[in-house]
Amino acid sequence: MVGEDRTVTVRLLPPGIEVPARAGAPLLEALRRAGLFVDASCGGQGLCGRCAVQALSGRWSPLHDDELRAGRRLACRSSPLSDGSATLLSLEREAVWAPFPASALPPGTVFLAADLGTTTISVAASGQDGEPLVELRTTNPQVAWGSDVLRRLAAAADPGEAGALRETIRRSVGELAACVLEAGRIEPSRVRALALAGNSAMTVLFLGLDPRPLSVAPFRSGLERLRTVALDPGAFGLPRGAETFFLPGIASFVGSDTTGGLLAAALDRGMRPALFLDAGTNGEIVLAPSAGPMLAASTAAGPAFEGGHLTCGGPGTAGAVYGAEVRPTGEVRLQVIGGGPARWVCGSGVLQLAAAMLDAGALREDGRLEKSFPGVGEEGGMAFFRLCSRAGSPEGAPSRGSTLDTRHATRPPDLPRLDRFGHQGELRLTQGDVREVQLAVGAIRAGWRILLQRAGLQPRDLRRVVVTGSFGKALDAHAARRTGLLPSAGPEPEALPSGAVRGLLRAAAGLDSRGRCESLARGTVHVPLGDEAFQEVFLDSLALRPYP
Ligand code: FES
Repeated sequence: MVGEDRTVTVRLLPPGIEVPARAGAPLLEALRRAGLFVDASCGGQGLCGRCAVQALSGRWSPLHDDELRAGRRLACRSSPLSDGSATLLSLEREAVWAPFPASALPPGTVFLAADLGTTTISVAASGQDGEPLVELRTTNPQVAWGSDVLRRLAAAADPGEAGALRETIRRSVGELAACVLEAGRIEPSRVRALALAGNSAMTVLFLGLDPRPLSVAPFRSGLERLRTVALDPGAFGLPRGAETFFLPGIASFVGSDTTGGLLAAALDRGMRPALFLDAGTNGEIVLAPSAGPMLAASTAAGPAFEGGHLTCGGPGTAGAVYGAEVRPTGEVRLQVIGGGPARWVCGSGVLQLAAAMLDAGALREDGRLEKSFPGVGEEGGMAFFRLCSRAGSPEGAPSRGSTLDTRHATRPPDLPRLDRFGHQGELRLTQGDVREVQLAVGAIRAGWRILLQRAGLQPRDLRRVVVTGSFGKALDAHAARRTGLLPSAGPEPEALPSGAVRGLLRAAAGLDSRGRCESLARGTVHVPLGDEAFQEVFLDSLALRPYP
């Protein structure tokens, strides 16, 4: 980023923090360095419009073309030229409490777990039985470097940025751990252990490993050789005696979060053959055949199931649409987290919406919106389906979960709540959004089809199907089968909410030994996808219809 050597001070209102900034350099640079939360999904390219900022005083750079296009100042394009003040309009970083009664935490020893995802990080606490009783999730603050891992890995090639990326997520884990303890009224001295895990990119960035092997072909991380890593508990505000460790992963793109999920599902010890799916930006799929080692694969599902990249998408927090009913008349009834007005559609909601649209005839199995269906329109050559207008945004029901602003939320309560309504005042699912969903479903379906083929199994042979990740909390079995995300044959899928966190708590509490964690990771065979055979199955998996 360009800029002068002169330093100016930008006061952020609220919360009234003063941030030193290089005059003439984009404000985003100073925000990252100060460790402040800002949604910079496109990595500072001026494309996503999410780093919106309002200049309140001082001299600022003239509006850039990208800002004129976005209709607002952007932190990645606006540079302070003198001391001044500004307000960040980024989507707020919300903290969501899983609805566990904190008072239920028994007295005595406490164990903590931290699951580091690309979009969300989560910290939970349990007693000796490893059952999560308090859990807090929040946006991964590394989104200030971009929402996708490749941008973050590219940024981490600069040692200074790598340090900032590492510190920002470590600080967040410490802050979330403090919040969890506060919520459970737990004295830090009661914490006996903290177990951490993450996907491969998060592991590299968190542990400060060389990011280059993971970002260039042949995309090897070397993580398959990594064993349990001991960490300093003091870095997370925990007492000296609290055992703090990072779980081992399975392969380059099958991280330790999958190890955690497998521990929680006891996939190797339950009824087999069993299929495990962790749906997120990457879909991690593990098959436990009737006998022999488990097979694991990772498939690039894209961000559709994380919600954020869709025109109408957002995180699974208050205001997110998580379910829908579509009538043949085009009438849409939305179910909204928290029960208030709809603001966007979350990852599990978009799958449910796609299934409802398929059932109603608004969407064809080849992924095209049906233009003759009421509510389907076209603008600028892009077809879309109208979900609701801002004025008619429904009061959703029933409520799921609750939202609590914490000290981590940078959005003050008096700012208007941002949403994903377009300038037409409508929440829409566009043809482009449907394509993203179709690609995600196709990639995941191709992944489990290939693992089943490799083991010589058919979907009907499965005795267990376990789903965690984006759908672990709100799995709609009909939607998953209607779209072909999960096999239609075989057993009813089991939802495993917070799978990685549950497994980590088991490891922290010693219910699963370090030896078991390592042998589970080392004993699972990685099946690389991405060759021609995968492409063929992937293309054959793109239709949004039940399979087989
Ligand atoms: S527009 Fe995407 S980070 Fe600024």
